[in-house]
Amino acid sequence: MHLLRRNRILRTSAAIRSLVAETIITPSDFIVPLFIIEGADVKEEIPSMPGYYRMSLDLTINEVKELWQMGLKSVLLFIKCKDELKDNKGTEALNPNGLMQRSIKAIKDACPDMLVMTDVALDPFSSYGHDGIVENNTIVNDATVEVLAAMSVSHAQAGADFVAPSDMMDGRILAIRDALEQSGYTHTGIMSYSAKYASCFYGPFRDALDSAPGFGDKKTYQMDFANRTEAVKEVLMDVEEGADIVMVKPAMAYLDIIREVKNAVDIPVSAYHVSGEYAMIKAAAANGWLNEELAIVESLTAIKRAGADIIATYYAREAVRLIS
Ligand code: PBG
Repeated sequence: MHLLRRNRILRTSAAIRSLVAETIITPSDFIVPLFIIEGADVKEEIPSMPGYYRMSLDLTINEVKELWQMGLKSVLLFIKCKDELKDNKGTEALNPNGLMQRSIKAIKDACPDMLVMTDVALDPFSSYGHDGIVENNTIVNDATVEVLAAMSVSHAQAGADFVAPSDMMDGRILAIRDALEQSGYTHTGIMSYSAKYASCFYGPFRDALDSAPGFGDKKTYQMDFANRTEAVKEVLMDVEEGADIVMVKPAMAYLDIIREVKNAVDIPVSAYHVSGEYAMIKAAAANGWLNEELAIVESLTAIKRAGADIIATYYAREAVRLIS
């Protein structure tokens, strides 16, 4: 054979492969989602997310301190609201002494440098399990946006570093930015779930928070997974409205969208490796069909390679252990 270029030279040893690796995941790439419940010393495994837990605030605080020690820099808070506190308008979401507000404050007190991001959407607080207020079986946009803006201010007041609206209502980023400005929270960031698809991969998350929609689905607000151009429209609008970080969600089945978005915006892009993506790897590994550790590193590296600057993942802790 007469070859001038031998591509295998750069793959000869682990040393040369690491020297030429284009993408390296590090602990500071990750956001750790946390599920918080009422009570003390409570730790419940989520059945469809083996190895992942809902925890009471006291245990969550210990967890956050440990995560910080491991080099993780950011947590994303979700709370499980008691059934008796749920209503159509998500009233409990605005309670200054609600579980979310207490959690933000306690976590910032215990670990002030940890970036605290909060989920902003009505579904955990909604008696209908929808991300917005329901009227005549439809999700009303503008009234919902008002609540989301008030909710964001309430989280900022409690000390949140970033609010993360995950609802997909129109115009909410501008409304949230305006509300934060008017209330003097000029340092609070907005990580917008800009291109959030109506996905079956959120199933286990809805088990975790008992937040599955009571009727219908979320297709009138979350995006159709058939669409790509629409994702670019959504992120560009959110950038104009004042988002600091845009997100694509889910991640693994949407790597093309992550790249498309990365090429379109001049702000950081995050991707959410969601509950169903975690559950798939767990299930395959439990059956001995996949090597879990290899699957984690390959999946997260692929998401970063696609263009994600930041990755929210239930595997953050495990990934840090594997890469250090
Ligand atoms: C709620 C919300 C969801 C997720 C994050 N925020 C569920 C949904 O939209 O139904 C999904 C996260 C995951 O599956 O890991 N607005």
